[in-house]
Amino acid sequence: MADSRETSLRKAFVCGFPIKHSRSPMIHTHWLKTLGLQGSYQSVEVAPDNFADFVAALKSGESGYRGGNVTIPHKESAFALADDPDELARELGAANTLYRDDGRLKATNTDGYGFLANLDQRAQGWDGQRQRAVVLGAGGASRAILQALRDRGFAEIHVLNRTLLRAQELADRFGEKIHAAPIEALTERLSGADLFVNTTSLGMDGAEAIDIDFAPMAEGALVTDIVYAPLITPILAMARDQGRSICDGLGMLLHQAVPGFEKWFGQRPQVTDELRDLVISDLERH
Ligand code: ATR
Repeated sequence: MADSRETSLRKAFVCGFPIKHSRSPMIHTHWLKTLGLQGSYQSVEVAPDNFADFVAALKSGESGYRGGNVTIPHKESAFALADDPDELARELGAANTLYRDDGRLKATNTDGYGFLANLDQRAQGWDGQRQRAVVLGAGGASRAILQALRDRGFAEIHVLNRTLLRAQELADRFGEKIHAAPIEALTERLSGADLFVNTTSLGMDGAEAIDIDFAPMAEGALVTDIVYAPLITPILAMARDQGRSICDGLGMLLHQAVPGFEKWFGQRPQVTDELRDLVISDLERH
């Protein structure tokens, strides 16, 4: 039976350390308002040493939350502490969405879903070929994207990284369709590629990017970046200048929030231009 704190007000959170720059409260509060739902979504800063206690209070119902999002540095701990992580979270070893269900704490990872849904919405037809994708970077974000592209049915996915060993580990983990290579092999691996994804911090907040020649890519290929500040990253600008189609990464942030909202508040929200503009205005202010 649900306890009274839950039925009176549906509450959810985003938990990280630090957390103050998170745009998640803005996104979920917009949806609560536009759907006319009673509820709250707040950011909670929890230091790594206190995260297990935070999860214990969530599990017991004591904190009154239905669930929430977890972000850096808690994604791996969230996976480890949940009662029932789903298959996606288990393969990644990381969860970004927690929800209580039947007295159990469930966990999933919606980053890959958010990545695909963004391209599906804003770059329709992007996956028409599904022959070759090239992913730059081998960190946490890269994992979810490799998993998502593999599950979408790409024939070959090349993961390139400054530290080759990390790319090799991901190739071992995600199966035979994933091929590891050093950054120096970029031009060669881009040959005939339908998709290029930057998952590194190159070009983030003014950081320097590298020069990339997108000419070897297939006709109609798409270039995307998961960095969304600035919205048009140096890598996207470079691709656009070379006449390539581009898609910015903001939609990944917006879409990854959808499944959690539906679990906690009972309705599936829409990613609209209005929401996108709201977050863009906020990014421009800070
Ligand atoms: P996230 O979880 O956000 O993906 P991460 O785990 O810190 O973050 O990974 C950052 C990625 O950006 C890594 O692939 C990193 O390369 P290394 O594994 O070699 O460290 C990449 N990266 C960061 N700065 C870079 C730079 N200046 N040049 C090339 N790659 C860089």
